[in-house]
Amino acid sequence: MKRIGMGIVGAGFVGPHHVDAVRRLGFVDIVAVAGSNDASAAKKAELLGARRAYGSYEALLADPDVHVVHNATPNHLHHRVTAAAIEHGKHVVADKPLALTAAEAKDLLDRATRAGIVHAVTFNYRGNPLVQQARLAIARGDIGTPHFVHGHYLQDWLIKDRDYSWRLEPDKGGASSAMGDIGSHWCDLAQHVSGLRITHVLADLTTVIPVRKKPTGARLAFAKGSADDKYEPVDIKVEDLCSVLVRFEGGVKGAFTVGQICAGHKNDLVLEINGGEASLRWHQERQNDLWIGHRSKGSVILQKDPSLMDPEVAGLAKLPGGHQEAWPDAFRNVLHAVYEHIAEGKPMSERVPMMSSFEDGWRANAVIDAVLASHRNGNVWTEVATL
Ligand SMILES: NC(=O)c1ccc[n+]([C@@H]2O[C@H](COP(=O)([O-])OP(=O)(O)OC[C@H]3O[C@@H](n4cnc5c(N)ncnc54)[C@H](O)[C@@H]3O)[C@@H](O)[C@H]2O)c1
Repeated sequence: MKRIGMGIVGAGFVGPHHVDAVRRLGFVDIVAVAGSNDASAAKKAELLGARRAYGSYEALLADPDVHVVHNATPNHLHHRVTAAAIEHGKHVVADKPLALTAAEAKDLLDRATRAGIVHAVTFNYRGNPLVQQARLAIARGDIGTPHFVHGHYLQDWLIKDRDYSWRLEPDKGGASSAMGDIGSHWCDLAQHVSGLRITHVLADLTTVIPVRKKPTGARLAFAKGSADDKYEPVDIKVEDLCSVLVRFEGGVKGAFTVGQICAGHKNDLVLEINGGEASLRWHQERQNDLWIGHRSKGSVILQKDPSLMDPEVAGLAKLPGGHQEAWPDAFRNVLHAVYEHIAEGKPMSERVPMMSSFEDGWRANAVIDAVLASHRNGNVWTEVATL
């Protein structure tokens, strides 16, 4: 297969996982890393085994050996970096949320479409083998007609007032924290697996910790504060807890909660879909099991075992049953779909379902915007924009 060169902008928490995933594909060269200055870029390039380091994303975009740009910068840079990469004719893998608002996301979708590049958003949970098994089973009618789609995405890394991140600052993270950061994943997954679009939302947002202690020094995402840190008090304007009633197309009902202040919940994403014949539940923290609920016979757990899965999706499980696969493997599966698509020179219309595009990124941004508007206008039913 033709070799493809990748460059990454932003190598903090998630950037190195992008590099790790594409390195495992076998036909991708890690060409360059761009950081916010020369020194940090050089350090990251050495750590990640990239050939070149650039102190600005503009310099990386000028490198002709970089064919695909991964944007893993904080949210406020998503539009700027992605738009510039498109301008340079690069294919783009953008991390979620695609942009700060649906309007920004739509602009990126339009630019990418006009430029004819391949565009993708890392909604990486789509890459879990049993997520694809669930999607296939629902599309085939195995659970009957879906009538209720529900779940949660709960974490606890912001439970203390000294926990802090750029995600809490609207000019860097956007107007939403929990919903934009992890709600975007839940909404994409629910729509992808059910095959149904979210049409209306009624949201209730809460800022459980309204004043936080911002460390005056730098701190990595998800890192805990220490007793030696120095702090300044900051009023928090974004939610850390959010519950939403949902209507999907066809009148299907739903509900979900996202929160970053729920003790004991680390990366607790649950999606359950109830249909007329059966139910399916996938739990990210137990991702090698798919619960299949029945009324008239015993409910069962389908294990991530390629010999038990449908042939169309069994290949996503790279190990036999009982050998646990996890978060980085799903990330690799999604990026494999993207890079295979690029290598084959296919148009976006021929992408496999697992590969989320800027249109899917825009859709998640549109739900976030509707959730914020619903709350702002007095917790009222709000229509989600359509393209
Ligand atoms: N797909 C997922 O599951 C997942 C997981 C975590 C984060 N994310 C997303 O990835 C993005 C980054 O999140 P993170 O947790 O890695 O944040 P982070 O703060 O750990 O890393 C961001 C990096 O970007 C660098 N950076 C800032 N400005 C830059 C610039 N102008 N040029 C180049 N680099 C610059 C920072 O120095 C830092 O290294 C966010 O949008 C987040 O939503 C996605």
